[in-house]
Amino acid sequence: MPEQITIPLHIIILAAGEGTRMISALPKILQPLGGRPMLSHLLETARNLGPAGIHIVIGSQSEEVIAAFADEDDLNWIHQAERLGTGHAVQQALPTIPQNSQVLILYGDHPLVPQQDLESLITSAAQLSLLTMVPESPHGYGRILREANDRVSGIVEQKDASPEQLQITEVNTGILVAGSNLLTELILQVNNNNAQQEYYLTDIFGIAHKQDIEIDAVIAVDAADLQGANDRRQLAILERRYQYHQANRLMDAGALLIDPARLDIRGNVAVGRDVCIDINVVLEGTVVLGDSAHIGAGAILKNVSIGPGTRIEAHSVMEDAVVGANCNIGPFARVRPGTVLADEVKIGNFVEIKKSTVAKGSKASHLSYIGDAEVGAGVNIGAGTITCNYDGVNKHQTVIEDGAFIGSDTQLVAPVRVGKNATVGAGSTITRDVPPESLAVSRSRQTTLKNWKRPVKNSD
Ligand code: UD1
Ligand code: CA
Repeated sequence: MPEQITIPLHIIILAAGEGTRMISALPKILQPLGGRPMLSHLLETARNLGPAGIHIVIGSQSEEVIAAFADEDDLNWIHQAERLGTGHAVQQALPTIPQNSQVLILYGDHPLVPQQDLESLITSAAQLSLLTMVPESPHGYGRILREANDRVSGIVEQKDASPEQLQITEVNTGILVAGSNLLTELILQVNNNNAQQEYYLTDIFGIAHKQDIEIDAVIAVDAADLQGANDRRQLAILERRYQYHQANRLMDAGALLIDPARLDIRGNVAVGRDVCIDINVVLEGTVVLGDSAHIGAGAILKNVSIGPGTRIEAHSVMEDAVVGANCNIGPFARVRPGTVLADEVKIGNFVEIKKSTVAKGSKASHLSYIGDAEVGAGVNIGAGTITCNYDGVNKHQTVIEDGAFIGSDTQLVAPVRVGKNATVGAGSTITRDVPPESLAVSRSRQTTLKNWKRPVKNSD
């Protein structure tokens, strides 16, 4: 195979906008989308293109933005002190980009741009290519001017357009690809003689056309993915669009979504086939759902792995937990960090479990607190059982060995161990270890007074 000469790709992200219309203390590009900053979605797409550099132009509130991405060392932050227009913003970034590179320009507040559209743009043959779209309404966008032979001859901004030009339905997404040398040359020729007295990046197309430079226009597959977020209404529309894509991805992987519009994904979710997700579920962080797992209505799962055939019933809240196959959790279970459940475990309603392991087939069906415990296989934990794991200063372990039976309303005062196949009578407060195969009861004996009459109310 002949050696391919690859031109390094440099990506400039324009993000110096103040986002005043958000009415927020948080900079616009840090507003949440799918549970993380808007900009992080765009960075993910940008990185997938394998760039040699990512250059982000920021303005006011820059310290807050940089701090939010402090862990990411592949980003080159560029300050645009004065906001003089998109052309001026790109000009600030160009000096740090090596000659003979390919430059892609993206926008921080257009975070859902599909990778596919960008790939089409990057691989287009021309020296200068732009991404256009045909949205439902062209209002507010720069209109694409084409000659009779369809060649792009320029872009006119809404505020500078004639009534005829305003009728044009094909608009500028703002996204473009150009050779760095050409881009540098063209931007030097841009002036600010326009309605907004800004240096418009878009003017480079008219300038290029006059110099007979070929311009390629790629039309985006779906304009809905190229919407921006200037205010909270638009941000909400973007959020729904993002969730629409997430839901489709799960369905394509074999999940049954009772209503794709009533599921929220704020992280990375992997599903097996025949997973069923009922309405109003929130999945956060890294979530893995095994084949045929069922997630009931209103469940909230964050960083959990659910084994095949397991049912999470309605309104259960789970975080940082690993659950085996064919378990039954909830409804209204609270599974807290550090919980590891083996196969066929049952954690019922109003049971809270934290930093505990439960072996195969064990059950805590009702109203219990299990914290810092190691529970063996085939254990039955009765209703109202509490592991008293905290002495006010330190946390202590409770160990319940295989086959033990813990009667209802038992307090296990840790550190304590209940031996294999041992039985604890209902209502006991267990403060000392219970040997295997034994019965421990610590409640006081019942007293019964025969023919006892209740007091009667005084008649005064
Ligand atoms: C721009 C395009 C328009 C296109 C539209 C798509 C220009 C002149 N117009 O219009 O053709 O249809 O995007 O959404 O480019 N920015 C800076 N520094 C600046 C000015 C802007 O970083 O000095 C950033 C903003 O943060 C924003 C982006 O560039 O993210 C676009 O700027 P904006 O002024 O909003 O351009 P539009 O009027 O939307
Ligand atoms: Ca504007």
